[in-house]
Amino acid sequence: MRRLVAETRLHPADLVLPLFVKEGLTEPAPLTSMPGQVQHTEESLVEAVRAARDAGLGGIMLFGIPSVKDANGSQGDAPNGILQRALRASREALDEVSGTSTSGPGAAVPVLMADTCLDEFTDHGHCGVLTSTGAVDNDATLTRYASMAVAQAKAGADVISPSGMMDGQVAMIRDALDDAGFVDTSILAYSAKYASAFFGPFREAVDSELKGDRKTYQLDFANAREGLREADLDLAEGADMVMVKPAGSYLDVLRAVADRSDVPVAAYQVSGEYAMIEAAGANGWIDRDRAVLESVTSIKRAGADVILTYWALEIAEWIK
Ligand code: PBG
Repeated sequence: MRRLVAETRLHPADLVLPLFVKEGLTEPAPLTSMPGQVQHTEESLVEAVRAARDAGLGGIMLFGIPSVKDANGSQGDAPNGILQRALRASREALDEVSGTSTSGPGAAVPVLMADTCLDEFTDHGHCGVLTSTGAVDNDATLTRYASMAVAQAKAGADVISPSGMMDGQVAMIRDALDDAGFVDTSILAYSAKYASAFFGPFREAVDSELKGDRKTYQLDFANAREGLREADLDLAEGADMVMVKPAGSYLDVLRAVADRSDVPVAAYQVSGEYAMIEAAGANGWIDRDRAVLESVTSIKRAGADVILTYWALEIAEWIK
């Protein structure tokens, strides 16, 4: 009876799996602070992409970790940079003919998304390039994002996902994609992204050297209206989807964005949300599987059409 009358139901197509790929790795490297998650080699990434496809996931989101980082994040838009290589390999794997049909009502090919941000690529760990005084230079960073977006689209990304919270990033990327002929490439804007302690384990996942914080460009967790304003700006700039991030502590913001957005709304259940449930579950303090399902279903109930979660594969297995 509960199943029949449930108001909210997860489907594998709602879920997007974030994946990390590191240049030069010979074996997948387990992440201590994210038990069950790894930095992939280029080979193991392709296996994970196939698993995501076979599970019927809605999408995958790729993060690349270069072996050399510098102040400008040069590898971010290098045609042969790790993320571009990983996108090309993933594109190929997704386009392989499998048991699933690639068009028509049975279509089940995950959408290929790329994180469009510099923090994985800079030696200082900030999401943008810096001025001589060490501040993040908004407009100089936009030029870098535009170049990254085109490189990612060329490598086969369906969706460009600017996550650096620079003002004007969506409009700048839209123009650059259109000028390069990628008029069908979509933009998922990380719109209401908060300066959050819950991103902690992600730093290990991308080998980030960040000192200090991201409070000059990410939002203050005390503010909901500011998040709505950011979403409105991204919608006006042409975002095809808007995102709230993290998810669990921001369900009010998510509900408010969902109520005013006329494009699909995504939410990112981030590394720290994952780590907390895994840690408490491993200690026997909570029932891990039930907590996973409750947390992700709550994100959908609050208004997310698309949910990025590190548990995407496992949940898809449970609900299929
Ligand atoms: C920026 C980016 C971050 C995450 C996704 N994209 C880190 C940050 O902005 O500080 C965090 C994801 C997570 O914690 O799971 N490239």
